[in-house]
Amino acid sequence: MKKIVISTGGGDAPGLNAVIYAVVKSAYRRGWEIYGSKSGYKGLLDPEELIRLTPEKIEDIMPLGGTILGSTNKGNPFAMPVENLAGEVQIRDLSDRVMQNFKRMGFFCHIAVGGDGSLEIAHRFAVEKDMPVIGVPKTIDNDLQATQRTFGFDTAVSTATEALDKLHSTAKSHDRVMVVEVMGRDSGWIALNSGISGGADAILIPEIPFDIEKVCDKLNDNDLHEKHYGIVVVAEGAKAKGMNEALHKEKNEAGRQEVLLGGIGEWVAKQIKGCTGKDTRSLVLGHLQRGGSPTTFDRLLALRFGGAAVRMAEQENFDHMVALSTPDMVPVPLAEAIKARKKVPVDSDKLMTAREIGICFGD
Ligand code: F6P
Repeated sequence: MKKIVISTGGGDAPGLNAVIYAVVKSAYRRGWEIYGSKSGYKGLLDPEELIRLTPEKIEDIMPLGGTILGSTNKGNPFAMPVENLAGEVQIRDLSDRVMQNFKRMGFFCHIAVGGDGSLEIAHRFAVEKDMPVIGVPKTIDNDLQATQRTFGFDTAVSTATEALDKLHSTAKSHDRVMVVEVMGRDSGWIALNSGISGGADAILIPEIPFDIEKVCDKLNDNDLHEKHYGIVVVAEGAKAKGMNEALHKEKNEAGRQEVLLGGIGEWVAKQIKGCTGKDTRSLVLGHLQRGGSPTTFDRLLALRFGGAAVRMAEQENFDHMVALSTPDMVPVPLAEAIKARKKVPVDSDKLMTAREIGICFGD
């Protein structure tokens, strides 16, 4: 009997459980045995942390947020922080231990569901350790160039849009400017899509360095049209003209995700208060965007990713990632998939529409 193992790594995203659901159902129908590795590679480092997944076990997980397997962005087996007897933390390469367990368990394929960092680790295992790996892209940021969409993004945008809808009434009641910081790392997709749909006055994204005075002009203009409040959406990676790097709170030692972005919303709010004199508040939507049940769109996309991953495993199309290339799911070499980040094209129809309906980008 063929055996496969699935893991979920990096930050969670709504739809992870739907991928697991589809993988388990499709693999089981082929007569395969399926195991889940807890918290990324934990189950492959210690087989006691492997869970046998059967259709009964996953029957009701499809609409659930998070991942039943758990996830971590501090779990790179090639550089694992391990505490020694003296209580000191040392970085060790445990990749051989992963391979020993992988072989001992008799797995013929590892389906690694993750963002750029986890896919890079999966690719290293394929190239350096000959592990048969298939990647499934996941991130709410939608910033992987190789796939038209990642699951989790639609849910995050819906959550952000709903928040903006709610902020309109309170902002209007108090004649206030509300500045909302959203996630997305170095890409402005969440800010752009939610900002347009949520009726923002200004959207600030990493792809367009902004001039705060332009944003203030836009908010002052609102008064000429009897609108005395404003909504500004700021992507966490947005930068004012002249800022060398995005604001960040702390170093995150995990793999490639080195800095924890954040703080630009508050900065923008202070500047707006200073230059317009308007009562201004800021809020950070943060991990709300990663939580909750996946939208229908994300659920379906995640199920399709899971089904396609099993088909690729059957065809032994290893060291590849499943990608959406509408209307199909196609294999893309992992090496290619991890190379480029997807940025918002500044001349896209979406941006033109936004400008035409009066949204300011601070440029
Ligand atoms: O990549 C997904 C993401 O949610 C980013 O949008 C955000 O910058 C980051 O992860 C937050 O990471 P953490 O969960 O470690 O705070």
